[in-house]
Amino acid sequence: MLLTMRHLLEKKVLFFGGKGGVGKTTCASATALAASHAGKRVLLVSTDPAHSTSDIFEREIGPEPIELLANLWGLEIDGALESQRYVANVKQNIQGLFGHHILQEANKQIDLAASMPGAEEMALFDRIGGLIRGEDTRFDLIVFDTAPTGHTLRLIRMPELMEAWIRALSRSRQAMLGIEQDDKTDPVLISLTGRLEGLREFRARLLSPRVSAFMLVLVAERLPIEETARAIVQLDEAGVTVGGLIVNRVLPASSPDPFLQSRHSQEVIYLDEIDRRFSKLSRVRVPQLPSDVHGVQTLEALSEMLVSRSQVAT
Ligand SMILES: Nc1ncnc2c1ncn2[C@@H]1O[C@H](COP(=O)(O)OP(=O)(O)OP(=O)(O)O)[C@@H](O)[C@H]1O
Ligand SMILES: [Mg+2]
Repeated sequence: MLLTMRHLLEKKVLFFGGKGGVGKTTCASATALAASHAGKRVLLVSTDPAHSTSDIFEREIGPEPIELLANLWGLEIDGALESQRYVANVKQNIQGLFGHHILQEANKQIDLAASMPGAEEMALFDRIGGLIRGEDTRFDLIVFDTAPTGHTLRLIRMPELMEAWIRALSRSRQAMLGIEQDDKTDPVLISLTGRLEGLREFRARLLSPRVSAFMLVLVAERLPIEETARAIVQLDEAGVTVGGLIVNRVLPASSPDPFLQSRHSQEVIYLDEIDRRFSKLSRVRVPQLPSDVHGVQTLEALSEMLVSRSQVAT
């Protein structure tokens, strides 16, 4: 079934991904705005370190949700900051458990772990996981504006990898305690089981077509088309629903300018290729606007276009 924008706005979690610069932030923001107009309470989350949702909404957006417009909140999460918060939290939790010397050593180890490669990505993943599990009940829909494709696909596979890792940790803890089964009194096993349950729920919501969908944004050029094709295969393999394609920055069909005419005739070939290769997915074309999408007014126009041009359900 082809998903229309109306169907998409019924989801709980929408991701916007694609190659660098194709318009992910713009399309994620326009969709979030459309959903807020449809009466959903929407949280727009930027996970890209080069946050630009602040630019579009001309507001400072930070690590806690802030209200941008009626029914629309913004949040920019940052791996480095999340990692610092995570470390502070762990240190706080173990404070009463050990004596001064052990505590000092433990804190040193925690700082070391936090500086290892991947720690920031892990902290980012943790925060995203909480949001996808619906921990913040203020919102009906969470829209993720993601970093360029590769990075995001790694994050999407992470619950699966983490589950395997935590299961291995639980087994080695059980071996250490000389037990076969889960010990409901051991604090380490209790904590690992809790994390495993959280990950399972995260993955279940991510893989549920009713809950989540991934939108791919592209422009009608060779490299973005190829990257889209690869992303579709990888998302399929990961079991994540592809909600559809947004073909952004489509040039006007008729222009007296010979340069634009020439660009347009090349673009038509790529647009045909997109229609042919991705015929099973919903596709929405968004025109190239005369200026950058900056400020709520232009975003409103784009948002209306997205809704009105999205295909009728079949
Ligand atoms: N349809 C459009 N018409 C005109 N300008 C557009 C359109 N879509 C996006 N832009 C402009 O193109 C630039 C890149 O868009 P955007 O920031 O949304 O891309 P992105 O995919 O999020 O980039 P990045 O990979 O850097 O995160 C921005 O200046 C934006 O205003
Ligand atoms: Mg962006």
